[in-house]
Parts: sequence; structure tokens; C-alpha cells
Amino acid sequence: WVASVAGLAIAYLIGATPTGYLAGRLLKGIDIREHGSKSTGATNVLRTLGTWPALAVLVVDVLKGAGAIVFARWFYPWVCTLPSVTPPAGIDPQTLVAWAVCLAGLAVLLGHGRSIWLNFTGGKSAATGLGVLLALSWPVGLGAAAVFAVTLAVFRIVSLSSMLAALTAIALVCGLEQPSPYRVLVIAGGIYVIVRHRANIQRLLAGTEPRLGHASPGPK
Ligand code: G3P
Repeated sequence: WVASVAGLAIAYLIGATPTGYLAGRLLKGIDIREHGSKSTGATNVLRTLGTWPALAVLVVDVLKGAGAIVFARWFYPWVCTLPSVTPPAGIDPQTLVAWAVCLAGLAVLLGHGRSIWLNFTGGKSAATGLGVLLALSWPVGLGAAAVFAVTLAVFRIVSLSSMLAALTAIALVCGLEQPSPYRVLVIAGGIYVIVRHRANIQRLLAGTEPRLGHASPGPK
């Protein structure tokens, strides 16, 4: 149990690394949470700091998600080999590892959205979620990324694209042959990403959600 919790804590801390916040502090000396949508995600970095910082934050945030899954896939099988660890009788260790990896995926999303370093504020976990998906099941990740790209090209609204990508991931993980833990992770993670976008949903309904390259949204 100690090792399981330690693995989840490490995944959470990977997600909690405040990339967008650090970009704001280092490049402009600002708290990005006081600007634009108040999110620390790449979209708000784009409208607040510009293209290159946003691309850098996007790449690192995707890598955080993928990195947490890669870490968990190494860490939990290693834990199972420790002499002091005996998996519960009758449960396949591989099944336990798959569920632990699923929880680590949720932990990295939570870390990005509710960072311990930022008073439990943060981003909306879309980019980190994409990293999780790509590392977990690349067909699901690529499908979600494709829907994101097409929606963005048509509507030029990042939040709408992120939420449709999350819904696509849920549909794909249910429709394709995928292990149960992956399904649970993608459904729970997708719902989490959509719930994090509730201010965006209100703006979309009010017709005030900014398109790429347009003015900032109002208060969160
Ligand atoms: O990934 C976040 C994006 O979908 C929306 O960001 O800053 O427009 O709320 P923002």
C-alpha cells in the first residue's frame, strides 16, 4: 500500500509541475492566473505570453501526462517484484498493475488541474490528458487529437475542441477493444476535463467564448 500511494503521489507531483505558471513568472513576471481565462494551460499562455511559450507549455504538459503513464507502467511491475510485496491471493498481479496505472493517470490529471504548488488551482488538463491517452492507447489518443484538430480548424475555439476530443476519447475507449481499467480512466478523466471547462461552457452558451486570436474571456 505504501508503494501504491507513493506511485500515485509521484504521478500527482508530475502533473502538479506548474508549467504555465512558471512560464508567466519567468518570461513576464506575472501570475498567469490573474490573466485571460485564469487557467495555467497552454491556451491561456498563448493569449497572455504568445506562441512560443504556449507551444513549449503544450509540449511539456503533454509529456507530463505521457510521462506519468510511462512511469507507472515501470514502477508498479517493479513494486510487484519486491520480496516484501505479496499481491492479494486470487488476484492477477497484471490486473493490479493495470488498475494502478489507471489511478496514476487520474492522479496526473488531478495534479495538473489542482496543483499543490498553486493553492490547488491550475489548468484544465486537456493537454496532459492527451499525453495520458497517447501513452495508454495511441489509437484512442490519435482519434481524440484528430477531432481536436478538425474542430479547432473549423471553429477556432480551443475549449470546444478540447471537450469534443474528451468525448471522442470516451466513445473510442468504449467502442474499441480496451482493458476495463483503461475504460474507467478515460471515462473518469474525460468527465474531469469537461467539468474543468464549466466556465467555458457558460461562455459558449452565452456566445462570448473567444476564438483563437481574439480577445480574452471575462472572469472565470
Ligand atoms: O485546455 C484548455 C482549453 O481547452 C481552454 O483554455 O484558457 O480558453 O479556458 P481556456
